[in-house]
Amino acid sequence: MSTENVAVIGLQWGDEGKGKVVDALAKACRYVVRFCGGANAGHTVNVAGERFALHLIPCGILHEDVCNVVGNGVVFDPVVALEEIRGLRERGVSIGPENLAVSQAAHVVMPWHKLQDTLSERSLGRGKIGTTARGIGPCYADKANRSTAIRVGDLAQPDVLREKVLHVADIRNRIFAAVYGAEPMDAEEVSEEYAECGRQLAGMIRDTGRMLRRAIHRRERILFEGGQGSMLDIDHGTYPFVTSSSVTACGVPSGAGVPPAAVGQVVGVVKAYCSRVGSGPFPTEQANPIGDRLRERGREYGTTTGRPRRCGWLDTFALRYTADLSGVTELALSLLDVLTGLEELKVCTGYRVAGRAADAFAPDLMADAECTYQTLPGWQRSVSDCRAFDELPAEAQQYVRCVSELVGRPVGVISVGPDRQQTIVYQTKVRGLA
Ligand code: GDP
Ligand code: IMO
Ligand code: MG
Repeated sequence: MSTENVAVIGLQWGDEGKGKVVDALAKACRYVVRFCGGANAGHTVNVAGERFALHLIPCGILHEDVCNVVGNGVVFDPVVALEEIRGLRERGVSIGPENLAVSQAAHVVMPWHKLQDTLSERSLGRGKIGTTARGIGPCYADKANRSTAIRVGDLAQPDVLREKVLHVADIRNRIFAAVYGAEPMDAEEVSEEYAECGRQLAGMIRDTGRMLRRAIHRRERILFEGGQGSMLDIDHGTYPFVTSSSVTACGVPSGAGVPPAAVGQVVGVVKAYCSRVGSGPFPTEQANPIGDRLRERGREYGTTTGRPRRCGWLDTFALRYTADLSGVTELALSLLDVLTGLEELKVCTGYRVAGRAADAFAPDLMADAECTYQTLPGWQRSVSDCRAFDELPAEAQQYVRCVSELVGRPVGVISVGPDRQQTIVYQTKVRGLA
């Protein structure tokens, strides 16, 4: 089995810059596969001064000769996907069954999932999760519930779809009216709209697991594109302030339909500081002028929702845990340029909980953690034009080495700006990144 396949995984709370890394690697791969999440993701790729924000379509779509796959582990919103496809086509990207396949076993995000997401967040008030309102949690809940689920394969069978929609809409309408006093949805209208989506997607709905397993036998290289970030993982993140899928490399095999050994190298994408959107613990958060400065310099506003992101120092205690979870073989350190101009930089190396040093990391410690910091000198000279490690100011080199040591992983590449060429190849062992 080929071990050349690579997974690109976010090691923080999402928005680490996965899109840029996937774009860089895609040219050396045959398949780019999403295996988790849905339209809650927002992956940015900058090509020749043009900015693309992708939500459901894998970032490999901007490369010729790459087959892009939306795996069974994704929750697929066909309305959003078709809108995204339309927008990409208008910008000259050709999309069809030859370069996009959607798993027939992926679950469909229906209008009631989005409504449920919004209504339940509203009813939680201050205790809300701070979701993207894309219907992600309710759709995965129906997947687990089975009898109220609709899958992508159903979109291609109008009669089956209609029967399911009428059944589920009736249940949802009664619940929404009783619990939230909401207006009923027109089930026939929904059924027709989604059947039309099915018609437009015809030819792209495939058994993608089988496709990928065949590719493995033929030794065609696969890139697994992570969504969200490891601290948002349903099992291993800061529960309940998480998303609803398995977003670490552990989620790749079941979310793509490939054996675990199909994942060879794992690139863990790490922002040079931390950001988080939505609620939940964030021990290194700087709700002060430092956080404000990181937000402005890093343009930390959500790619999907436009919400300002909470910002703070890098947390290497948490990173060691997320790197271990995914079996990360090397790091991609992004947005290093954003730290330029700060007098000094802090890096969290451990937590104190109830006055005692925690001997091992666990997400549940985060809510009551007091951070232990190592302070490093900052640098003033711009790094945006650096293209080799030794062109970086000495203090920036020291910062990168320190992160690598504290997380216990080599740093493969360093990103010093959003554009493709603003990348420093450092210690990578991944073919295509060098
Ligand atoms: P993703 O969800 O992990 O793909 O990340 P997002 O696209 O949501 O957010 C990352 C943002 O940072 C995007 O606007 C990128 O264009 C931008 N970006 C990526 N790498 C760098 C970098 O090295 N420096 C700067 N300044 N911006 C970057
Ligand atoms: P990418 O792939 C950042 C966050 C939401 C919220 C929590 C639950 O661009 O890194 P959900 O809508 O999934 O039920 O929201 O998860 N979240 C993300 N934050 N980047 C993402 O994706 C995210 N996807 C979900 O802000 O806190
Ligand atoms: Mg994002």
